[in-house]
Amino acid sequence: MTAPERAGWEGHFAAGHGFRRTDPEELRLLAEAVHPRPDARALDVGCGLGTYAAALAGLGYRTLAVDWADAAVTATRDRYADVEPRLKARRLDFEDQAEVSAQLPRAAFDLVTMRLVLAFMADKAAVSEQVRGLLAPGGTWLVTTPLTDRLPEERHSIGLTPAEVAAFTGVWSRGRWYDLEPGGLRCFVLSA
Ligand SMILES: C[S@@+](CC[C@H](N)C(=O)[O-])C[C@H]1O[C@@H](n2cnc3c(N)ncnc32)[C@H](O)[C@@H]1O
Repeated sequence: MTAPERAGWEGHFAAGHGFRRTDPEELRLLAEAVHPRPDARALDVGCGLGTYAAALAGLGYRTLAVDWADAAVTATRDRYADVEPRLKARRLDFEDQAEVSAQLPRAAFDLVTMRLVLAFMADKAAVSEQVRGLLAPGGTWLVTTPLTDRLPEERHSIGLTPAEVAAFTGVWSRGRWYDLEPGGLRCFVLSA
């Protein structure tokens, strides 16, 4: 992503805007997919206002929420101060490999989530590799995303193409998916 795109996210969150709500059905499907264990560790990448990360903490995960927009990190901390220390938020550009290596422990997370985020990252294969290095043995990567073939052409930039899906899912030995609703967001559940 470019600096102007990043500035766009800053403005969005500074104005207090979020994205699609996280409803109880989404959380029910998530819990069914990942089987949370008490005190397991989760990393939510591109946390936005922190709603999804707070829900992970509510499922019992010790959760680290990261976003490259300062305004998102501040909003997450402010909105969920009562969830500390189970939820922590930190500024991090997940596409900057040096920053990720310096700030995140390897093989440490039982779950890495990206909700409405992967489509905005330039090199999906590199992101996939990076996630593999962060997951503990048996850990899961959960990607929630629009698909371009379900979107009008002018909104394709927020979704993943079939080729992109094939590329980022292909290197995982176990994978399945479910939809949040028919024709809606798809959730990929991947493990090495
Ligand atoms: C569409 S919002 C989704 C926010 C949240 N996950 C949700 O579901 O409401 C995309 C988020 O990804 C973040 N993001 C995009 N590229 C990023 C990167 N390279 N590193 C960290 N965060 C990033 C943006 O700042 C923004 O908060």
